[in-house]
Amino acid sequence: MSKKPLILGIESSCDETAASLITENEQKNPVVLSNIISSQVDVHKEFGGVVPELAARSHIEKIDSIVKKAINDSGRKINEIDAIASTAGPGLVVCLSVGLSFGKTFAASLNKPFIAVNHLEGHALSPKLNSDLKYPYLLLLISGGHSQFLSVQGLGKYKRLGTTIDDALGEAFDKTAKLLGIEFPGGPQIEILAQKGNPNKYDLPKPILNKGGCNLSFAGLKTAVLKITKNIKTEQEKFDLAASFQKTIEEILYKKTKIAFKEFEKLNKTEKKIFVVAGGVAANKKIRIMLKKLCNEEDYLSMFPPIELCGDNAAMIAMVGLEKFKLKKFNNFDHPAKPRWALDEDAIFLKGAGVQL
Ligand SMILES: Nc1ncnc2c1ncn2[C@@H]1O[C@H](COP(=O)(O)OP(=O)(O)OP(=O)(O)O)[C@@H](O)[C@H]1O
Ligand SMILES: [Mg+2]
Repeated sequence: MSKKPLILGIESSCDETAASLITENEQKNPVVLSNIISSQVDVHKEFGGVVPELAARSHIEKIDSIVKKAINDSGRKINEIDAIASTAGPGLVVCLSVGLSFGKTFAASLNKPFIAVNHLEGHALSPKLNSDLKYPYLLLLISGGHSQFLSVQGLGKYKRLGTTIDDALGEAFDKTAKLLGIEFPGGPQIEILAQKGNPNKYDLPKPILNKGGCNLSFAGLKTAVLKITKNIKTEQEKFDLAASFQKTIEEILYKKTKIAFKEFEKLNKTEKKIFVVAGGVAANKKIRIMLKKLCNEEDYLSMFPPIELCGDNAAMIAMVGLEKFKLKKFNNFDHPAKPRWALDEDAIFLKGAGVQL
């Protein structure tokens, strides 16, 4: 029995300090040995959003103990680790630098390879942690900072099919929550409030629904929600607005995903068509149910990460590390933190006023 790779993953791109050890079994499926996440919600709550300087300080304070706990919980010894993978971008540069420097230093001290990981590739590969996912596949990445459809051809090989031209979907959930007076981070609360409301009460806009291919836009929704909240008087009206928002998002994603399916099929002539949904918003149960239903209608196999691995975590970073380790794709110790790091680096920038679709 050959020794299986043991990878330490480290994540610090935003407001979660996380570390995880993963390996693989005889069937070459990944096995998560430990997955420690320390969220900074309490640090940022009073400011209604992430404060970079405070986030970086908190990472510095916690990273040693989080990595130590990840190693202890894995039941393995430090000298058994084969490589260290740290998130190098995208994210807040002061936050990225903490996990990146820690990972490089740790790798140097153990004389083991260092692997720089794109955080978004972590989300993209997260369903591999619980299922046998093969390339190519269509990815819908819906997170706090990104909303994109990508054709994933292989490790590091991405073709962007569509992207948001303004806000990310997670941002739209968070901003709507803030307007409804829900404490930061409010996005996940919308889904809960929506259960008590009437989804047909408010007619919200669906920007660029009938143009721009599978590109997305959510900024107009925020403006509409703002106008309505000014006249909201009762708790029930709050629930109704949350439900109407949730329903509008589902309708936008249903239509845009159908378009993305066609674009994916133009690029890939595979027998088994796979659709992966990842990123923080993939934890939304109603969105999951709706997209599963669409996949049944359109003959796609749907795959989602486990709910607890939709948001930021280090198991997904270690997962990318494991794949890169097997291909001996290592990085030098001068690898920079990259606050911007697109999965498809050839795709044109599509944000802001005057964007031509
Ligand atoms: N159940 C839910 N319904 C809707 N949105 C949710 C739910 N759970 C989490 N989110 C949203 O997911 C986002 C967080 O996701 P994630 O941690 O992947 O984002 P991020 O790491 O900040 O951004 P990125 O990955 O793009 O750099 C937040 O905007 C949050 O509101
Ligand atoms: Mg993320």
